[in-house]
Amino acid sequence: MEVAYQAEHDLREILQVPGEYKVLFLQGGASLQFAQVPMNLLGDKRTADYLHTGLWSGKAIEAARRYCDVRIVASSKASGFDRIPEVSDWNLNSNAAYLHYTENETVHGVQFVEAPDGVAPLVCDACSSLLSKPIDVAKHGLVYAAAQKNMGVAGLTVVIVAPALLDAAQTFTPDILNYARITDAQSMLNTPATFPWYLTGLTLKWIKRSGGLDALHRLNQAKAELLYRTLDDSNGFYRNSVQAPFRSINNVPFVLADAALEKTFVQQAEQAGLNGLKGHASVGGMRASLYNAVTLQAVEVLTDFMKNFARVYG
Ligand SMILES: Cc1ncc(COP(=O)(O)O)c(C=O)c1O
Repeated sequence: MEVAYQAEHDLREILQVPGEYKVLFLQGGASLQFAQVPMNLLGDKRTADYLHTGLWSGKAIEAARRYCDVRIVASSKASGFDRIPEVSDWNLNSNAAYLHYTENETVHGVQFVEAPDGVAPLVCDACSSLLSKPIDVAKHGLVYAAAQKNMGVAGLTVVIVAPALLDAAQTFTPDILNYARITDAQSMLNTPATFPWYLTGLTLKWIKRSGGLDALHRLNQAKAELLYRTLDDSNGFYRNSVQAPFRSINNVPFVLADAALEKTFVQQAEQAGLNGLKGHASVGGMRASLYNAVTLQAVEVLTDFMKNFARVYG
């Protein structure tokens, strides 16, 4: 109980969560939230708004279709998910139960510059960016993220929810997926994921010792800038096609001009101790994830390796 209490306390402090908001520690990953959000938030509404900005928002949309009439407010699919669509092109619906967006598209490397303004309560999939930079929780109705990127290990999902949204679950929602029931039981309606919860508690302590989210944000920006500069200064040897303002500080996908070299790149990177650079299976190419645990020195090792590789093969 002490571990659980302390983790919630530290998370509230780090994210400056307004006192009345509920903080839940759940299981099932962020993917379960794709279904749990519509189950809990629709109330007597039949429609929900979604912004389609990449693979993960696409998955959230597909999951929600089972429960409601999904309206796609705007999509950047036609341009290969290389941007956040212009706000002036958004088609918001006044009768939507909520507006869902994916703060950082982990596969396509596209990130919002700021949280959208909408009329319906704002729901944020912050799976790959929560705790990598500050977020205005008060602007949102609900924020969710699985722990395994910046918060700990897989097995724990954090949901932060405004109390006004706790009374809108569909009648078929089982208690174990009902935010209000879970809130009443302090996230212990069944056996919680105790060890991931404990590890998240340790990670939160580390974030506080590291200077909090402003300090981590500055560091994450420096890491991302170094890597994007290396891509942009490579005379086309490497390429990231996301429009500059929307480039993610968490995930940097890139391709080689000569795709035939990609296998060699990944192999030699591994030999140099640089693991996990192969891109997501759905898009191919490479991807460097720059989560909080990745140091600036590690990104320097990566960019030095990349410059050298380009000299040899370019
Ligand atoms: C933005 C985003 N949303 C949702 C998910 C799904 O998370 P989980 O694997 O915890 O279900 C991921 C996983 O990578 C993600 O990056």
